[in-house]
Amino acid sequence: MELDKGDDLPGELKYVQYEHSLEARYLPAIRALISKDLSEPYSIYVYRYFLCQWAHLCFMALNPVDCSLVGVIVCKLEVHAAHSTPTRRGYIAMLAVASPYRGHGVATELVKKAIEAMASRKADEIVLETEETNVPAMRLYERLGFLRSKKLHRYYLNGNSAYRLVLLLRSISPDHNPDPYDEQVS
Ligand SMILES: CC(C)(COP(=O)(O)OP(=O)(O)OC[C@H]1O[C@@H](n2cnc3c(N)ncnc32)[C@H](O)[C@@H]1OP(=O)(O)O)[C@@H](O)C(=O)NCCC(=O)NCCS
Repeated sequence: MELDKGDDLPGELKYVQYEHSLEARYLPAIRALISKDLSEPYSIYVYRYFLCQWAHLCFMALNPVDCSLVGVIVCKLEVHAAHSTPTRRGYIAMLAVASPYRGHGVATELVKKAIEAMASRKADEIVLETEETNVPAMRLYERLGFLRSKKLHRYYLNGNSAYRLVLLLRSISPDHNPDPYDEQVS
């Protein structure tokens, strides 16, 4: 099904929090949707690492007619203790929307739900990396208030560079390095 930007979605999409009982039904679809646009495919262990520990920070958009997967966001939230003041750092690890559904606000809704879930668990900040050439993703995140904190040269295996983006949810103490992502997540 191809939708144009002005077209309505097929009814209200359902936004559902992932849970372990949904693994058999949705993990294959999540992997397929995410790996489609990845320069480096992730193994099943990477998906399970996130989904088993932070199911409450993963949201799916489902087609209301057949409950097929339309979009997904996968995140984690950990205490980052490398500084004198530990911070609670959310991380958006994966985000994808099936191409026929893009441009209708699905990713915006998924990111907002993830921000809300991390904010309600007292995240101080949310970070992520995205390819500098990924204009739709950069526009989406910057529209939601994320700021570019660092350029990561040749970050991906394909040689492309990335930007690290950060959304500050609370003021962080001055002795906190503003770009301290020294331990790599994911
Ligand atoms: C990046 C990606 C997730 C964006 O998904 P999306 O669902 O198309 O994103 P949105 O619809 O929320 O936002 C895209 C545009 O639609 C517009 N839009 C938002 N709500 C809308 C609505 N209700 N109706 C029509 N358009 C809408 C947005 O304003 C936005 O426009 P702009 O940013 O060009 O100004 C998607 O392109 C994708 O899956 N790409 C491949 C994977 C990827 O790159 N992931 C990100 C890795 S960090």
